[in-house]
Amino acid sequence: MAQNKVKFAVVGIGGLGRSHMIGINNNSDVAEIYAVCDNNEEILNRVANEFNVERRYLDFYEMIKDGGFDCVLLSTPDSIHREHAVAALEAGYHVLCEKPLAQTVEDCEAMVAAAKKSGKKFMTGQVCRKAPGFIKAKELVDSGAIGELFYVESEYAHDYQFLGKAWRWDPVNLRYSIIGGGCHAIDLLRWIAGDPEKVMALANRKVLKDWPVDDCTIAIMQFPNNVVGKIFCGIGVKRDYTMRTCLYGTKGTIICDNRNPTIKLYRHAITDNGEHIYPDKDIPVDIAHHNVSAEIKDMCDAILNDTALECDVYEGANTVAVGIAAVESAAQGGMPVAPRYSKR
Ligand SMILES: NC(=O)c1ccc[n+]([C@@H]2O[C@H](COP(=O)([O-])OP(=O)(O)OC[C@H]3O[C@@H](n4cnc5c(N)ncnc54)[C@H](O)[C@@H]3O)[C@@H](O)[C@H]2O)c1
Repeated sequence: MAQNKVKFAVVGIGGLGRSHMIGINNNSDVAEIYAVCDNNEEILNRVANEFNVERRYLDFYEMIKDGGFDCVLLSTPDSIHREHAVAALEAGYHVLCEKPLAQTVEDCEAMVAAAKKSGKKFMTGQVCRKAPGFIKAKELVDSGAIGELFYVESEYAHDYQFLGKAWRWDPVNLRYSIIGGGCHAIDLLRWIAGDPEKVMALANRKVLKDWPVDDCTIAIMQFPNNVVGKIFCGIGVKRDYTMRTCLYGTKGTIICDNRNPTIKLYRHAITDNGEHIYPDKDIPVDIAHHNVSAEIKDMCDAILNDTALECDVYEGANTVAVGIAAVESAAQGGMPVAPRYSKR
């Protein structure tokens, strides 16, 4: 009988890993939680009890040795994605890895090579591609509703000041904010406008003064087809989390966010008496800014029906490549840097 459910082993069940467990349960027709792993015993037992999971591991490699599952879902700190992803692929498992894929181009390349060699399915969890507002915005752009793009901008504006100094603050494995959180905005613009050819960035640190990385980065980019773009990433921003995104085309403009129930579409029109106007239309969309359930559904479909994943290991690697280019550019006072992309 053909397999009809994907068995997941979820690693790192503190924050987003727990959300993924809800996502797996939301797809119970095709997915199940087989095992969980967290090296924090209190978190491991609390969350495993909450979800009634019997197979629980403090040690990742013990879990890999025991096996019995199909897919390893990594929701651990960014700096250990590479080690666990490569080990899981080498042991013959599919991998769903949280964003950002990794923190360096070298780590991404190692993951790309391991995924390629294994032939296993690999999804990078760039979840903005599952936010209904952004899906609608991309559909409108692709359909030509705003003509040809000429300028795109997106942002990741968050406040990490009261998060506490856990792994995001790590002074050894620096978690540059333009990669760690800014990868959402980078990935969104890459998805809509393609791979930037060059990146010029400036950064400062005026809010999180005791953090080891800059808290504000702006990066301007040259996209294909002579589209220009900008990303703002701030992790000390004094307002609610937002990913406000504006897409400017020759015939119209889209303004959207992952937390608004509508997206705005402006289009040029001429009234009967010859007046040029730009009426705006509010298009209703669901709010699902962390739509991990949709990711789980796609991953299961890819494994059970051998379909291709849209946000695979290359997409994850190339989003990180743009973030690294921004870090390198900012370190040189805004010099243009070409991202080092992974080739399929
Ligand atoms: N898609 C999104 O929007 C989004 C949002 C938040 C976080 N993330 C990503 O998810 C990942 C986890 O972030 P988080 O906010 O859930 O962090 P978290 O600190 O809340 O959870 C991470 C968990 O991993 C566990 N862990 C650490 N090292 C481990 C190891 N060696 N073996 C097993 N478990 C280990 C920790 O005990 C913790 O429970 C990160 O890569 C982060 O960038 C993505």
